[in-house]
Amino acid sequence: MPDPAADTVLPDPLTTLTLAQLRERTSAKWRRYDADVLPLWVAEMDVELAAPIKEALERAVATGDLGYASGTAYTEALAGFASRRWGWDVSPGQMTTVADVITGYTDILCLLTEPGEQIVVNPPVYPPFYSYLKAAGRRIAEAPLTEDLRLDLGTLEEAFASATAGGHSAAYLLCNPHNPGGTAHTREELEQVAALAERYGVRVVADEIHAPLFYAGETFVPYLSVAGGERGFSVMAASKAWNLAGIPAAIVIGGTKAQDDLARYGNSAHHGPTHFGTLAQTAAYEHGEPWLDALLPSLDRNRHLLATLVEEHLPGAVYRLPAATYLTWIDCRGLELDVDPSAYFLEHARVALNSGPTFGTGGAGHVRVNIATHPDILTEAVRRMGASTHRG
Ligand SMILES: Cc1ncc(COP(=O)(O)O)c(C=O)c1O
Repeated sequence: MPDPAADTVLPDPLTTLTLAQLRERTSAKWRRYDADVLPLWVAEMDVELAAPIKEALERAVATGDLGYASGTAYTEALAGFASRRWGWDVSPGQMTTVADVITGYTDILCLLTEPGEQIVVNPPVYPPFYSYLKAAGRRIAEAPLTEDLRLDLGTLEEAFASATAGGHSAAYLLCNPHNPGGTAHTREELEQVAALAERYGVRVVADEIHAPLFYAGETFVPYLSVAGGERGFSVMAASKAWNLAGIPAAIVIGGTKAQDDLARYGNSAHHGPTHFGTLAQTAAYEHGEPWLDALLPSLDRNRHLLATLVEEHLPGAVYRLPAATYLTWIDCRGLELDVDPSAYFLEHARVALNSGPTFGTGGAGHVRVNIATHPDILTEAVRRMGASTHRG
């Protein structure tokens, strides 16, 4: 059946809500800080729900369809989306559902390593790449990105060699695309990663939650689609691209040579995702592309707007256009504020950003800025940040 929304031009999702409406929200982004603070931090978007998702949730509420999740609609929806969007044919049989992405990568990494063994990550990186794995008794080994936020294969090889020394198992948690800063890893880079992983016997788990959020002209390369990536895993969800963080439901995909491990994971003691979350994320992958295609140009406008704003209001700061994601990264070291400029901007500009140092090595002097907001809010936030740096 043709999708009735497919040919409709949807309104810009980032300009439909006013600041007053957003301040009514009760989620973390809008409630963590005082009401005079402009929040550009956690990965929530200032958008209304895409219509097909809203309909799916309303239907479930109206009919009391709120039991346990069942069936294969979600994994089939992801397989369809992957094929249409990325030309990647992956079988739903290679997938299993899981409560959320963090649970998915933590569980798989714990399946592949023993307590005390090492997980390699590429800082600066999403802070929960450290916290949950440390809590699970794993050691985190850092292989920092280069200054321009690209994978450094020499450093990665050193980390693989050291993590596997003495015959230990080790794994690598790749962020594809990278949060923060939105680096798109190329097929060549990922093939080199896969070759290194094979050479050292390191298992790769790719967090690909931001994969639908590539800007026009940029290409998402699924890790499992690269030559040599067959023993890897990917963890995906619709939650970042369609703003469903409050009702997560994720999918772990095993590479074609990782199916035995995936079967072992299938026996894990964890509860799966909620039915409500699964319905929402299924609707997103199945019917949410027109909405995503309306969102991406407005995020694109904001990523360019931020470049202009930084140049005008924060001379000395360095911002590189992200290739993907709304989670941008600004190097504020030239502003000589502090090791944690987010604390300065919160106090003096009343703008909430994510603190660079929490992203590990390379995070000092940086802030993460979430641009998934109204352009007027973004403009006012950076104007305030600029004004705060001129204090006497
Ligand atoms: C790279 C990355 N992984 C995982 C998550 C969280 O996913 P979930 O809420 O499904 O655990 C986020 C949220 O921002 C993220 O940026």
